[in-house]
Amino acid sequence: MGNIFDNLSGEESVFKDKTPLDHRFLPEKLPHRRDQITNIAKYWIEALNNVTPSDVTIYGKTGTGKTAAAKFARDQLNEAAKNKDVFIKVEYIRCTDYTTEYQVIAQLCQRLGRDVPNRGWTKGEVVNTFRNIFKQNAFGKKLILIVILDEVDILLEKDGDGILYTLTRTENVSILSISNYVDFKKFIKPRVMSSLRDKEIVFPPYGADQLADILKERANLSFKEDSLKDDVIPLCSAMAAKEEGDARYALDLLRTAGEIADDEDSDKILGEYVRTAKDRIEHNKITDIIITLPTQQQRVLEALLKLTQSGEEITSGKLYDTYKEVSKGDSVTYRRIFDFINELEMLGIISTNTISRGRGKGRTNIISLQCDTDLLQETLYSI
Ligand SMILES: Nc1ncnc2c1ncn2[C@@H]1O[C@H](COP(=O)(O)OP(=O)(O)OP(=O)(O)O)[C@@H](O)[C@H]1O
Ligand SMILES: [Mg+2]
Repeated sequence: MGNIFDNLSGEESVFKDKTPLDHRFLPEKLPHRRDQITNIAKYWIEALNNVTPSDVTIYGKTGTGKTAAAKFARDQLNEAAKNKDVFIKVEYIRCTDYTTEYQVIAQLCQRLGRDVPNRGWTKGEVVNTFRNIFKQNAFGKKLILIVILDEVDILLEKDGDGILYTLTRTENVSILSISNYVDFKKFIKPRVMSSLRDKEIVFPPYGADQLADILKERANLSFKEDSLKDDVIPLCSAMAAKEEGDARYALDLLRTAGEIADDEDSDKILGEYVRTAKDRIEHNKITDIIITLPTQQQRVLEALLKLTQSGEEITSGKLYDTYKEVSKGDSVTYRRIFDFINELEMLGIISTNTISRGRGKGRTNIISLQCDTDLLQETLYSI
């Protein structure tokens, strides 16, 4: 046997290049997002005239191309700015990586060449350093900074609206916030809202035909010629259109269907692989969630599994009793179980339903599992 990697890389594959089907890949074209990107550009064009653009907020459900469009607009602006006598910087910040105001401002300072530690200074010191960059005209030219705050909800929920306050009150800074929720502004206090005065751009979910166009572009880059059966892209698009028009999910389906073709040693991707891909993705998602849950929550799930398998109607009282048996003395309070139930419901693993027992008997919460019991059992016993 030769080197194991040589053998593996020699295996036949339907892929010529997997990268274009990766989420992080930034395609050269973004079909069906021309209007949204043009809208961003209409505000940002001010920067080319040496004027700080308005703040902009992008809303839309997951996988509607918000991140891709913002990065696309950034690259276009950078290119347009090359031939102009202006000094523009567009900095992309993913708020899942930088979750506090301190971290974001420190990161911006570092990217603008300031030596700021990741922790240890007071917030005031970091903010002052940041503002001084603009006051001192540090680059000999007026700097216009556009900060893209992607997944801004996470930062606002965790650390409040201080970041928006600081950025809106710094001269020559414009914010592009990206949010999954239309109501994310509930995290923003009125005094900050009044300085934000942002323009809003909505990213609607993609329809099946639009998803098909997106997939076609990527499939051409990723798969060898003639490896796709005609029904594959329509199937992936239709399934993803049902999942709220999520392009990321459509791409996942297509990539996984290709991987299944390789597993099956098939030189063609068949429609039936897309259905298998759907199950595989669902399976992985649930397994990932369950294995990363805290132990006590896993025990709650174990209790739910037991009760479900015995065919009983599950009330929170019954769940708590079974949970105590499962955890053999090392258990949390009844109140905490309610928090767990809420969290598991938000993750989509269980659902609750309040029913009335009839007059004078009050209302009861009935809990049911929303994932496959075999899958749950397999996962819980593998931990
Ligand atoms: N119009 C499009 N053309 C080509 N690819 C697209 C388009 N819209 C989205 N995609 C691709 O779909 C995937 C998801 O898009 P993106 O990450 O921009 O979604 P998002 O709206 O930011 O989602 P989330 O809210 O989950 O962050 C990416 O791989 C992106 O390249
Ligand atoms: Mg995104």
